Formats: sequence, C-alpha cells, structure tokens
Amino acid sequence: MIKVGGSLGAEMARACADIVRLAQQGADVVVVHGGGAEADRLAAELGRPVRTMTAPNGRHSRYTDAPALDALVMAMLGRVKPKLVAELTGAGLRAVGLSGIDGSLVTARRTPPARAVVDGVERVVRDDFSGRIHEVDPALLLTLLDGGFVPVVSPPARDPADGMLNVDADRFAARLSVALAADWLIILSNVPGLLRDPADPASLVAEVPGEELGPYLDGAGGRMKVKLRSAGEAFQAGVPHVVLADGRLDSPVLAARAGAGTTFVRGSR
Ligand SMILES: Nc1ncnc2c1ncn2[C@@H]1O[C@H](COP(=O)(O)OP(=O)(O)O)[C@@H](O)[C@H]1O
Ligand SMILES: [Mg+2]
Repeated sequence: MIKVGGSLGAEMARACADIVRLAQQGADVVVVHGGGAEADRLAAELGRPVRTMTAPNGRHSRYTDAPALDALVMAMLGRVKPKLVAELTGAGLRAVGLSGIDGSLVTARRTPPARAVVDGVERVVRDDFSGRIHEVDPALLLTLLDGGFVPVVSPPARDPADGMLNVDADRFAARLSVALAADWLIILSNVPGLLRDPADPASLVAEVPGEELGPYLDGAGGRMKVKLRSAGEAFQAGVPHVVLADGRLDSPVLAARAGAGTTFVRGSR
C-alpha cells in the first residue's frame, strides 16, 4: 500500500516509477492519494476559497460544506487520480481509478454537528460533510489485484445516509492496508518523515515505537499528527512494515523499503 501525498504535485511521477517496478516484479500494489492541495487550487479557481473551522480544543480542520465537498471530489477524481492512472498506464501497468464509494469500498459515518469558529464566528456547524471511516470492504480491490490491475484509490467515502463524505486520506490508506493485510504501508509526503523540528529537515526521527506514539503525537503538527496516528493504527493492527517517507527522493518507494524516512518498530527505544 503506497499513499502519495497531494502535497507532492508533479513529484508524484517519482513514486509512480517505483510503483511500476514493483508491480512488474509481481507485487500486488494499491495506490492511495489525497487531494487537499489540488482542492485548494480548484476551489480558488471556482471562487470558493477554502475555509477552515477551529474546534474549541483549538484543532483546525477543513470546513467541508456542500460546495467544498464538490470541489474536493472534483479535484481528487477529476485531476489528481486521472494523472496518476495515466502515468501508470503509460508505463505499462493496468491501473484503475476508484474512490471509496465504488463497490462500497469505504463506508464512513458523518461527524456530528459541533461548535466551531468559522470565519471568526462561533456557531454549531451542521453542514460539514466529513466523517470517520466505519467499515472497509476490500472485495473490489481483491478482485482487481487478482486480475493483475493496480487500483488507484482515494476518498470520498460512502455515507449510507448522506451520500459522500470527505475522510482523511492517510487514515483511508491505513484502514485499507489493514483490510488487505498488506505487508507494507508507505506514506509518502513532502518532508523526509517525522521531524523533531518541522522547520529543520535534518531533524528526522528515524524510528518510532509503533505501540507508544504518545510523546511523538504531542510533538507533531496537525498534518503530520494524522499521518503518525493513522500509520500507528495500521501498525498496531498488524501491518508489519509501516514507513513515513519522502516522496521527493529519486526512488522514494524503494528508499522507504530500504530504511529511509520514519520506520515504525516494536518495543520502546
Ligand atoms: N513534526 C513534523 N514533521 C514533519 N512534517 C510536519 C511536522 N509537523 C507538521 N508537519 C507538516 O506536515 C506536512 C505534511 O502533511 P500534508 O501537507 O498533509 O502532506 P500530504 O499531502 O502528503 O498529506 C509537512 O509538509 C509539514 O509542513
Ligand atoms: Mg495530508
């Protein structure tokens, strides 16, 4: 399972080259991508600037009202995914683009209405279309892998009540890796891995104790925190090899498999 961060942009081509190598060697590969950065661009083009909401605990998140969900889905399924599928197909793979709603792959439950500050005003937010993953049904992916296809998957997830929901792409990758009993979960982003100091690329934490992430979670910034937490959940659920690595390297997947980035290990250090 390889998750390529939306923050990578055109640098995703490097991960694609590795994905082609692995798939041609016979590995079953599933690619997950997000689209936050592209959604922000598209939203700006559409004149619907992205808004954030701030929970009483200070946590910031994307305010996904109906127009924002629409832009997010268009960005992920209309821009990011076809580029990845075309790139992989051009290199000789049989890549197939899917989202969490296809074949009921990922079902989510909507986050209940909650108090938050939006545009400087505190109110109860009732029109946010984001949620938490409830269930994963990997049947469709298994069928595709069996047929020699390379699935390229992303949010949204399916909500039995409300149609589509935005869910976090790192968590999406983590949950799929567990459901597929993957050997590897490699999360590629635009940083070398977990950094002790986000401003210092040399401050890489090379190993984290996968069962005791607490102190590391406290130290990580919002976007890295969800990666760490999601990856930790996959590790604790039995995915043996979990790595947060740099997608900007020449051969980022092979580098991650060879120990680059932040590797999850058993036991405390
Ligand atoms: N401790 C940390 N170590 C590394 N990155 C961090 C840390 N804290 C915050 N970050 C931020 O997390 C970002 C990666 O998350 P994100 O932007 O969501 O990328 P992606 O599109 O790959 O999910 C980095 O670019 C960095 O700005
Ligand atoms: Mg992210």
